[in-house]
Amino acid sequence: MGKILVTSFTLLVSLIFTIGESRVNYNGYKVLRINATQNRAFNALKNLFIQDEMDFWSPPSRVAPTDILVSPIRVRPFRTFLDTIGAPYEILIDNVDYEIEYERLNYLASSELRTSEMNWEAYQRLETIHGWMDSLAEKYPSMVSVFHVGNSTEGRPLKVLKISTGEARADKPAVWLDGGIHARVTYIANELITQATRYRNQRLTDAYDWYINPVMNPDGYEYTQVDRLWRKTRSGPRPVLGGFLGWCRGVDPNRNWDFQWAGKGTSRNPCSQIYHGPNAASEPEVQAIQEFVLERKDQIKLFLTFHSYSQILLLPWGYDEVRTDDHDDLMRVGTKAIKTLESVHGTKYTAGNTAEILYAAAGGSHDWAKGAAGIKFAYCYELRDTGNRGFVLPADQIIPSGEETFAAVQSMAEDILEYIKPEEEQTTVPVDGAVTEAGQKLYQKPL
Ligand SMILES: *[C@@H]1O[C@H](CO)[C@@H](O)[C@H](O)[C@H]1NC(C)=O
Ligand SMILES: *[C@@H]1O[C@H](CO)[C@@H](O)[C@H](O)[C@H]1NC(C)=O
Repeated sequence: MGKILVTSFTLLVSLIFTIGESRVNYNGYKVLRINATQNRAFNALKNLFIQDEMDFWSPPSRVAPTDILVSPIRVRPFRTFLDTIGAPYEILIDNVDYEIEYERLNYLASSELRTSEMNWEAYQRLETIHGWMDSLAEKYPSMVSVFHVGNSTEGRPLKVLKISTGEARADKPAVWLDGGIHARVTYIANELITQATRYRNQRLTDAYDWYINPVMNPDGYEYTQVDRLWRKTRSGPRPVLGGFLGWCRGVDPNRNWDFQWAGKGTSRNPCSQIYHGPNAASEPEVQAIQEFVLERKDQIKLFLTFHSYSQILLLPWGYDEVRTDDHDDLMRVGTKAIKTLESVHGTKYTAGNTAEILYAAAGGSHDWAKGAAGIKFAYCYELRDTGNRGFVLPADQIIPSGEETFAAVQSMAEDILEYIKPEEEQTTVPVDGAVTEAGQKLYQKPL
């Protein structure tokens, strides 16, 4: 009886949801994967990007494929255009709606996975992720705590998980991790806790306070139930040309940070996917994290932000084609991390300065972390996959992707520990690219 009641209630709720806001339809939309290695093709795509003319799933790049979402009416002219500029391409996704529906059916069919229990076999709703964070703090009160750092535009809580073991000190080094719409960041948090509790391996949590913000944009995350490809926040709506050209919601949270704001690779059009917002840090989600990180800027030694997708590890600066003064230090730690990552499942990443290997994009969080908060080691991971799904990454890749990403994060944390040690205690400088034995041993699996 109780079960039937609950079931009908769920049905009713989903019915209301369906009627209230029908899902955005991408029938006939294609994703083209373009090879922009040649200068002519790269420059042409760069101009389209600057003029904010197409929906780029990945910014124009010479080293990674450039993927663009194309509406049905534009497919033919755009293909002709690509032939004209001599850019080879393939059709990566023939019908975006098909992929979305397929993923949704799989999700609905696996109802046993949709309990309020957290797991890494499916993408979870916000409530589940937040519930999971709170339950960790209850279960491991001496190791885990949850900070409520602010509220989103639509009033959802912004939460940061803190994981730490051993001595509590105000000057203990810290690592910051945030993720937008990715289960991988929660996977890393879970792995740290599992290592500490199940395998009694507390090295990394003894050495660092870990601050983890798994859902940086909760409104956008929940709105993907309506528009699977939504990536902005949900503030607004704001008018375009006084409203003559319509009204649009949302700011690109990775163009809104208060450093070199509104520069290259951003848009002032509120309807754009790369809209930088009405002013720097206009979004409460960005503001809250800026404040939280600034309060701990001397403590935080490593700042990592996770996005999809391209399999690239990006170093500052992203706002223009300039390298940081300590580019070589960041590159050394980064190169080793992606080698460690590759050793887990063979996934290949490229590392480099953002604006050199992609086109410039100002207002990103890793630029802000380095430029405004002064955190030396700040990176952005563009995760899996460069395979054939793009944003619609199949849920069965969450765990392998989590495993390899954890290995990379661990490698960085280890290297930086060495770097921040007082000089007299330092052992030899880590060798270029070598995966250390210590790094291998840290990741303990059950026998
Ligand atoms: C892209 O094109 C260049 C030549 O224009 C070629 O050397 C390269 O292999 C191509 N890359 C891919 C991934 O197809
Ligand atoms: C979030 O909003 C609630 C009211 O809905 C308020 O009580 C709380 O103080 C806000 N939290 C923060 C951190 O701003």
